[in-house]
Amino acid sequence: MDAAKEKSRLEELIKIIQEHNHRYHVLDMPIISDAEYDQLVAELLQLESKYPDLITPDSPSQRVGGGVSDRFRKVQHPQPILSLANGFDAEDLRSWLDRIAKLNPKVAASDFTVEPKLDGLTVVLHYRNGIFVQGATRGNGEIGEEVTRNLKTLQSLPLSIPVFQDGPAPPEYLVVRGEVFIDLEDFEELNRKQEELGEKVYQTPRNTAAGALRNLDSAVTAARPLRLLVYTIVTSEGSEVPESQLESLELLRAYGFSVPENIVHCLDIEEVVEACEAWGERRISLPYEIDGAVVKINNIAMADSLGIVGKDPRGAIAYKFPAQEVTTELLDIGVNVGRTGVLTPYAILDAVEVGGVIVRQATLHNFDFIQDKDIRIHDRVRIKRAGDVIPYVKGPILEVRPESAVTYSPPDVCPACEEKVATIEGEVAWYCVNPACPAQLVRNLEHYVSRTTLDIVGLGIKLVEQLVEQGLVKDVADLYRLKREDLIELEGFGDKKADNLLAAIESSKQRPLSRFIFALGIRGVGEVVGAELATFYCSMDRLAATTLEELIEIEGIGPNIAQAVVDWFALPANQNILAKLKQSGMWPELSGDSGAEGLPQPLEGLSFVVTGTLAGFSRKAVKDYIQERGGKVISAVSSKTSYLVSGESPGSKFAKAEQLGIPVLDEAGLRELAGEPL
Ligand code: IVH
Repeated sequence: MDAAKEKSRLEELIKIIQEHNHRYHVLDMPIISDAEYDQLVAELLQLESKYPDLITPDSPSQRVGGGVSDRFRKVQHPQPILSLANGFDAEDLRSWLDRIAKLNPKVAASDFTVEPKLDGLTVVLHYRNGIFVQGATRGNGEIGEEVTRNLKTLQSLPLSIPVFQDGPAPPEYLVVRGEVFIDLEDFEELNRKQEELGEKVYQTPRNTAAGALRNLDSAVTAARPLRLLVYTIVTSEGSEVPESQLESLELLRAYGFSVPENIVHCLDIEEVVEACEAWGERRISLPYEIDGAVVKINNIAMADSLGIVGKDPRGAIAYKFPAQEVTTELLDIGVNVGRTGVLTPYAILDAVEVGGVIVRQATLHNFDFIQDKDIRIHDRVRIKRAGDVIPYVKGPILEVRPESAVTYSPPDVCPACEEKVATIEGEVAWYCVNPACPAQLVRNLEHYVSRTTLDIVGLGIKLVEQLVEQGLVKDVADLYRLKREDLIELEGFGDKKADNLLAAIESSKQRPLSRFIFALGIRGVGEVVGAELATFYCSMDRLAATTLEELIEIEGIGPNIAQAVVDWFALPANQNILAKLKQSGMWPELSGDSGAEGLPQPLEGLSFVVTGTLAGFSRKAVKDYIQERGGKVISAVSSKTSYLVSGESPGSKFAKAEQLGIPVLDEAGLRELAGEPL
């Protein structure tokens, strides 16, 4: 390619990649595979390294992945970033309209939009000639904090507009307002991971989003699943401005912003009331938290003509849903034992209704939380329930603390087995470290048989408890020793049910190795890490013989998880369980059905890093090829790497290997080493 062609290809790539980013992160409808996407990015990076002058601030290569910023700069908003007056029922909405119709009688015949009121943080985004140049928090409405660098880590924030090649031309200067938040499911996943690692759980999606957005380290922001929805054009200079809110949303969408879905267009106030109530019902099924609906006069000029009271524009109103937060008495504090032995305190409450559901228990997160918030038994506490999230205690109401309130101290012994509890350095959690603890065993078994792990149908929590209580099962391996005679003794069991259960247990032996590893309940080893370990080791025998050094070399496995894996395999109790499992034939292999069994293992003991494209192999195929022949594939080159396998257009690993003097093989070299005839 000549220079002119390369330069125009570079510009084209920026546009193409931006479009794919948008499809993936905003529309959730990718049209190319991850590998094809990576290839486009690699091509762009290569051209940009050749023509650094052509790197534009909106290039996908400039998306910030990390780094520490100085203190946040204060920035003046181009216009006050207003708030909203609240209404709580149909009457409030009707009287809002009556009030403003007195100021401007035309309002009575106006149409409206009803949008979800997102429970996140307001952000104000500035674009000059289509390029994202500044982003700020709302602050006090006049002055906000500049968080441009952090905002750039949000995949749903367009670095330049329009995102689509055929999108409308951007105005010279555009300022938009939107909301940054975390989806409920992502929030729960985040906390599941924290719990697995024995680390502090986050309290609410909103706080977590706020903390991430205002973090001094953009890498932290980048690691949180923040999303952005945009709903207002604050300023638009040098191009036509939409006349209505509906058109604004449409234009914002055409520029490539993500805007709230299912906006309702209402022709009179009764339709508005209906739409607000409908949002209240839809609320629970939305992926994110909303705390109300926002009603706006659709015609922007008409809305603006009504002016402002305090910080609230008259042309819009927030319809707030009934409280998801209530207060009640904390009767007592109970303690749950999780499958990894983590002790989690929970509040036993005087039953109370929150958002239409009766709540009797709520989580207290961990013992530090009780102490930090000074929560005492018999305190009146605030309880919050958000969407599907488990209700949690926010804190005590100190003003009404009764004299009878009692300070709580964490138990010294496990409430289930009465063995002494322990802490792990650097973690807030308390653990029961007794491997024979019945509560842990029940949780462990529950996890072992659950749908996401070995999927043993018919083995629910009640039955698990029964099996443990009767002493029939003392560890997961005992499941494979259950006999028909044992089962029919149990309550509610007949011949057929017993046979079905035994068949289901037997069929768990067919599950993939990755699920088996996940099922073992090693701290920090979830579905993803389980799969990583399975592809790396291919067999339980190899995994069991692993070392700390080897584990940390695997992509996606940090030192904490690596240590947890090593510790788990080192425990005699676990070794005993593994021996029993193996004896019963519960010992899956990765390539059991790929015909790889019995292949000679000429690459045994060698470790490989792969870079570039190989003509005869896909990336996955070359990994399989090496692993099936006994070799290990690792992600990063180090002095311990045996060989670098390098194809066309290798990456930075090539230079690293050369620097360390690691021998480099091409495809033929690899095949030769593996003993293939040339
Ligand atoms: S419009 C003058 N629309 O609710 C325009 N606000 O209680 C005022 N919010 O600070 C904002 N979703 O952060 C608007 N669809 C939406 C919204 C929304 C959430 C937030 C916004 C504002 C707060 C007001």
